[in-house]
Amino acid sequence: MTKRVAILISGGGSNMVALAQSMTGDHPARPVLVLSNDPEAGGLAKAAELGIATAVIDHRKFHKDRSAFEGALNASLEVANPDIICLAGFMRILTADFTAKWEGRMLNIHPSLLPKYKGLHTHARALDAGDSEHGCTVHQVTAALDDGPILGQARIAINKGDTPETLAARLLPMEHALYPAVLRRFASGDSRPVMLG
Ligand code: GAR
Repeated sequence: MTKRVAILISGGGSNMVALAQSMTGDHPARPVLVLSNDPEAGGLAKAAELGIATAVIDHRKFHKDRSAFEGALNASLEVANPDIICLAGFMRILTADFTAKWEGRMLNIHPSLLPKYKGLHTHARALDAGDSEHGCTVHQVTAALDDGPILGQARIAINKGDTPETLAARLLPMEHALYPAVLRRFASGDSRPVMLG
């Protein structure tokens, strides 16, 4: 049966677009909801253009009450009834209660070669460390931040003269290749990692 996919975003949503556009033809999944915690997220209009239902749960209205925010998130998700949730540039930290509820069904893309550089400023940290390569990771979401079983990685070389901005710009197209490849495999019931680059 076709899998239902909800995509959670906070920003421009370029990964969301790559995921949504991949879910056609014989793909085992279809997008059913794009949800943002930020009403200004550019990805919301892109999702609407693609004909996908959208929702906003503005975290600021919950005044740092994470469980109330996540209660609203869960209510919206339960209506959409997803088999799989893809975090795609969703920049809220999730509690263990939330991750436990969706564990095994929730994926995230992170712009580093995990387990390196969990958290923020991943491009700058790879450069500061003098790394010769960088990349992105898709993993299952567990209670620990940017942790959980790895479902795929894509690698790029770090060149002399790279800045956080040039690295981010070179990595993003790799994210757009990796995340759809992982989702297709995961939605077909196969959790073997996808390795690109
Ligand atoms: C992407 O680079 C994604 O890897 C990163 O945010 C960007 C979202 O871009 N995610 C994280 O940093 C999560 N910790 P997009 O909105 O254009 O997909």
